[in-house]
Amino acid sequence: MKKRHIYLTGFMGAGKSRIGRHLADLLNLPFVDTDQEIEKIVGKTVRQIFEEEGEAFFRRQEAEIVRRVSQHPAPRVVALGGGALNDSLSLENIHRSGIVIYLKSAPEAIFKRVAHSRKRPLLDVDEAPDREAILIKRIKDLLQKRERLYLKADIIIDRDGLEAEQVAEHLMFQIELYRKEHHGKN
Ligand code: S3P
Repeated sequence: MKKRHIYLTGFMGAGKSRIGRHLADLLNLPFVDTDQEIEKIVGKTVRQIFEEEGEAFFRRQEAEIVRRVSQHPAPRVVALGGGALNDSLSLENIHRSGIVIYLKSAPEAIFKRVAHSRKRPLLDVDEAPDREAILIKRIKDLLQKRERLYLKADIIIDRDGLEAEQVAEHLMFQIELYRKEHHGKN
């Protein structure tokens, strides 16, 4: 079974889950969110897992979910956590089993989407007059470290300035085009 899944990757707050849900509806496919799967299996939120079990434990769960999803024979739309590609085996499993889409977003736009959320332990910054500058710098630094992996994607879309529904509609066409261009190859 070749590239049957559709994976959404990108930085925290890029909109992977929202866009993924719309895309799954449009393609009439089941939707999987790896963070939610981990929360279900462990019985804790991502934040609790980081705080109580540690990041290494979270990453092991994440790699295991990716492995299972990648082996599933029926196609799915999968929203990955922003750090899922860091694991080399996951990276291989993902690229082998699906079309990978990078939802590209600028640090300032990411900031606006994550600034008031308490969901992401890696972006915790204490209240301070310069919190915004600190958080934007944290986003830029981490994005710079990770973008090399995001840019390996089969499809890259700049999602800033578009609603989640619009991004999903654009992606429908891009996926179709990708499949036509790679017909028979994967
Ligand atoms: C993480 C991204 C989060 C979640 C965890 C770690 C990361 O998912 O997996 O907090 O390392 O980028 P989202 O990208 O869905 O926020």
